[in-house]
Amino acid sequence: MVSFDTLKDFLGHLVGPWLFMRISLRFWPGTVSQLISKSDFRTLLSPSAFGEVWFGNFWAVVGPQVKINAEKRVVPLLEGRVHDGQACDEVVGEPIDGIVLEIGAGTGMWADVFAKVGKSTSATTEDDNGAVRRRKGAGLKRVYGIEPNIQSAAALRKRVQEIGLDDVYEVVPVGIEDLNNPTAWEGRIEPGSVDCIVTILCLCSIPEPEKNIRILYDCLKKGGRWYAYEHVQVERGGVFMWLYQWFTNSVWSNVMGSCRICRATGKSLRNAGPWDKIDLAQPPDEPAYQVLPHVLGTLTK
Ligand SMILES: C[S@@+](CC[C@H](N)C(=O)[O-])C[C@H]1O[C@@H](n2cnc3c(N)ncnc32)[C@H](O)[C@@H]1O
Repeated sequence: MVSFDTLKDFLGHLVGPWLFMRISLRFWPGTVSQLISKSDFRTLLSPSAFGEVWFGNFWAVVGPQVKINAEKRVVPLLEGRVHDGQACDEVVGEPIDGIVLEIGAGTGMWADVFAKVGKSTSATTEDDNGAVRRRKGAGLKRVYGIEPNIQSAAALRKRVQEIGLDDVYEVVPVGIEDLNNPTAWEGRIEPGSVDCIVTILCLCSIPEPEKNIRILYDCLKKGGRWYAYEHVQVERGGVFMWLYQWFTNSVWSNVMGSCRICRATGKSLRNAGPWDKIDLAQPPDEPAYQVLPHVLGTLTK
């Protein structure tokens, strides 16, 4: 016999993504008037460009709430305290350090966690405003925030300045596909030069995921680590959940920018190339009927 609480939880999970979509719809009129007031008719008339601005406006408000729920997974992940999809009390791996790519960094919601994880008393000083400023050469050497959405990239720049990470954190306003395009930005990420890649809820939104995940794999050094927290295609829950997720995605893809919920991102990461170690799993506390299940963990090259 199914308990009332389980039934309530099940229905809550089925309805959850639709509530998200309803919130997104509320940002549609504001995005239209924003673009009209800027006379940006090119963006207004391009479904994909409009979708990106619309999603950017939605995420700027909803993202912080998502962060509150995701912190219990993302903070331990970046601290090297995740094993088998679960946060541990002890450090079981390595925390992020060295040269780091934060992919799809958005408005910099996780920048404070980067500052904290890379922080040690000898590595930081406080400025007159009390902001913690990192000294170069300790923990994080350089972080490249890869963010193609112009509006989000501007907010990201402001955020890293506010938290005193701007001496270490460089905003790269291009997509993964343009990382080594000399006409897109001034820098270059050499193959095999990166210590850590961080992807938090972003591989759902990138174009050509298989190809772009492989581009990122090539950027990693031998021994480099990929830290991932992503929502993915349902694997548990049987045919009903698979069909329900597919149906939800068919509406979701029209109101959530380039985000897709049916991607087998865990598989794409595993298949990106040979890995020395893979510790990537769905958090065991997620029920089989979760419409947006996740994978959490690290892959070591
Ligand atoms: C759901 S948001 C997540 C942002 C951030 N990681 C967070 O947790 O707040 C997905 C992000 O992926 C970015 N994105 C889309 N296409 C991309 C690409 N080709 N390369 C890198 N990032 C991309 C979007 O602009 C967006 O900021």
